[in-house]
Amino acid sequence: MSTPELGLPMVAPAPGLPDRVRIHEVGARDGLQNEKGTVPTEVKAEFVRRLADAGLTTIEATSFVHPKWVPQLADAEQLFPLIGDLPVALPVLVPNDRGLDRALALGARRVAVFASATESFAEANLNRTVDEALAMFEPVVARAKASDVHVRGYLSMCFGDPWEGAVPVPQVVRVCGALLDMGCDELSLGDTIGVATPGHVSELLRALNEARIPTDVLGVHFHDTYGQALANTYAALEHGVTTVDASAGGLGGCPYAKSATGNLATEDLVWMLRGLGIDTGVHLDRLVATSAWMAEQLGRPSPSRTVRALSHKEQ
Ligand code: HMG
Ligand code: MG
Repeated sequence: MSTPELGLPMVAPAPGLPDRVRIHEVGARDGLQNEKGTVPTEVKAEFVRRLADAGLTTIEATSFVHPKWVPQLADAEQLFPLIGDLPVALPVLVPNDRGLDRALALGARRVAVFASATESFAEANLNRTVDEALAMFEPVVARAKASDVHVRGYLSMCFGDPWEGAVPVPQVVRVCGALLDMGCDELSLGDTIGVATPGHVSELLRALNEARIPTDVLGVHFHDTYGQALANTYAALEHGVTTVDASAGGLGGCPYAKSATGNLATEDLVWMLRGLGIDTGVHLDRLVATSAWMAEQLGRPSPSRTVRALSHKEQ
């Protein structure tokens, strides 16, 4: 075990885990979409720039959804040019052709469609059945691929749903297969309301393996409602998953899912991965400073334990 440095964990690698993890940072999108007060566009742009400066290389910037559905992200057109040129990937959410048109017009090179494993959430979030939503995504994915744009397919409610309870694993596997069949380059398995536990994560990943869905196209997206997000991430790492979604400072929630709270905090993730000797390329001190700054903008402390422990300022 290495000697502890101030502000960094001791390093003690565990066998069988990946050497490197790519963090898909969702703070500017998932993190902010549920904020009640309007966050100024310049603050959002500064947030993205600071995240890039902290070493994050995939930063989900915003959503091209209907502005009435997510008013906080209605400024997507204004935000993009304000961010400026950054040497990082800036994926954006697009639910339909209209969303893709808007994203392509601004030069987006990575988009994400977002499906649901359950009928209740498909209805609440997309005003569609599960299969109608898949049909809505099909031309979006085809057009994006024809323009050489990378496509992520989110799948929400992979574990539990606030209206339907436990979600049967085969139901999740079916929609994962449909998203890959239509051409998505990667999938993100969403625990939208944070009810997964590590055994459940392993069960789903085993079932996806058995369905011949390759692990290297899978990412995990844990909300931290019950404090299980890190344990769930560890279970996913044990299965060879190397893409993990997280939100700086633990911001977040979904306006269309009762009881969705913030995502796994990026700082808590980086602390654990660093302790395991897993490389992420992230500078923890800069990231903590960014989340402390964002907490000031939002007027409330970050829920991240790591941000609280390492912030020099009283929040
Ligand atoms: P709809 O009402 O069925 O839309 O909503 P529509 O297709 O009937 O169109 C109605 C009007 O909206 C039309 O205008 C369209 O042009 C316009 P009109 O002709 O009446 O003047 N419209 C749009 N305008 C701008 N941009 C667009 C767009 N699309 C249609 N893209 C719709 C369907 C999908 C649009 C709506 O349900 C929607 O925007 N939903 C987004 C909900 C959302 O963003 N939720 C949060 C993200 S998902 C999430 O957080 C989960 C995740 O983090 C993973 C996890 O945690 O599980 C990803
Ligand atoms: Mg989410």
